[in-house]
Amino acid sequence: MIENRKEEHIRIAEQKEVTSSHNYWDDITLVHRAVPEVNYDAIKTSVKFLNKKLEFPMIISSMTGGTELAKKINRNLASAAEKFGIGMGLGSMRAAIEKKELEDTFSVINDYKVPMKIANIGAPQLLSQEKPAFTAKQIENVFSMINADFLAIHFNFLQEMVQPEGDRNAKGILKRLSDIAGSYPVIAKETGNGFSRKDAANLIDAGVKAIDVGGLGGTSFAAIEYYRAEKSGDKEKMRAGLTFWDWGIPSPASIVECKGKVPIIGSGGLRNGLDLAKAIKIGAEIGGFARSFLSGADQGIKILESNINMTVRELKIAMLLTGSSKISDLRKARSMITGKLKEWI
Ligand SMILES: Cc1cc2nc3c(=O)[nH]c(=O)nc-3n(C[C@H](O)[C@H](O)[C@H](O)COP(=O)(O)O)c2cc1C
Repeated sequence: MIENRKEEHIRIAEQKEVTSSHNYWDDITLVHRAVPEVNYDAIKTSVKFLNKKLEFPMIISSMTGGTELAKKINRNLASAAEKFGIGMGLGSMRAAIEKKELEDTFSVINDYKVPMKIANIGAPQLLSQEKPAFTAKQIENVFSMINADFLAIHFNFLQEMVQPEGDRNAKGILKRLSDIAGSYPVIAKETGNGFSRKDAANLIDAGVKAIDVGGLGGTSFAAIEYYRAEKSGDKEKMRAGLTFWDWGIPSPASIVECKGKVPIIGSGGLRNGLDLAKAIKIGAEIGGFARSFLSGADQGIKILESNINMTVRELKIAMLLTGSSKISDLRKARSMITGKLKEWI
């Protein structure tokens, strides 16, 4: 059942080592400025992302919904998003489409003044699979359920391929996407494997308003599905999870491939405010954090708030040490790219 699957994802993401074997943010160094001429207390971190104002250039990436545990997590995340003035995505809202009684596990976000609310559905479910494709009415329902600012459509075909009950059909997705993007402000989102330049061009032609790269370097859904398959003793899927554990385009490389025509959300493997500063330097408008905020959200609001507090503090320290008084200065900071990422870019 979909609810059990979502709960397993949370537990595995919290308890197991599910990250890719290399974090590509480590291949970027921001060049130190010993004479920065910046007052820490006057640093401006606010940005506009499309038409939304955020106090810090970040969102909490889509993670969950559909269970009581997910409702608690979404409540904590939404409360923190309000407090810090940052955006928030909900996890796939398929559960609420299939069972109306699960709507409140998502709509709990409406109890908070979150400055940018992102609804979420999966690209595979926009096509007919074993089940029929989501209808226009169902899409309208998830969008209005949370009075969303954007609709994230997640492209998680790797996960679908390696999970025991995955959807297999990806044919026709650009046509369906362009129909939906005609009616809603769509963010095309990956979930840990990144978009290429060619994909970005196709998505932009289809009318998406922004791209959330969700690249390789952080949470690996092949890894999560490996552990699920291990639990159910499915040796074939375990092997597929292992084989594709490190598949994808590194997050910073994906930002470089996709940037130019629409704003980019830099995500996949962000662990702290320094990683966020690097994402912005390399071309993202804002960054997205998923797993690094998950365990805090589960354990309680205090832990989550302290984690976000440290993240924004690290961002500001990185800004001061690169001579950046505002986010746009960070984009002009000097950086050095080494290692595997250098080979990619
Ligand atoms: C437990 C968990 C559940 C997730 N569920 C969704 C989802 O429902 N929809 C979605 O678009 N992305 C989902 N993601 C993917 C994240 O939004 C993000 O793209 C990915 O985890 C990479 O970011 P990270 O390295 O910061 O975790 C999920 C991630 C985690 C850890």
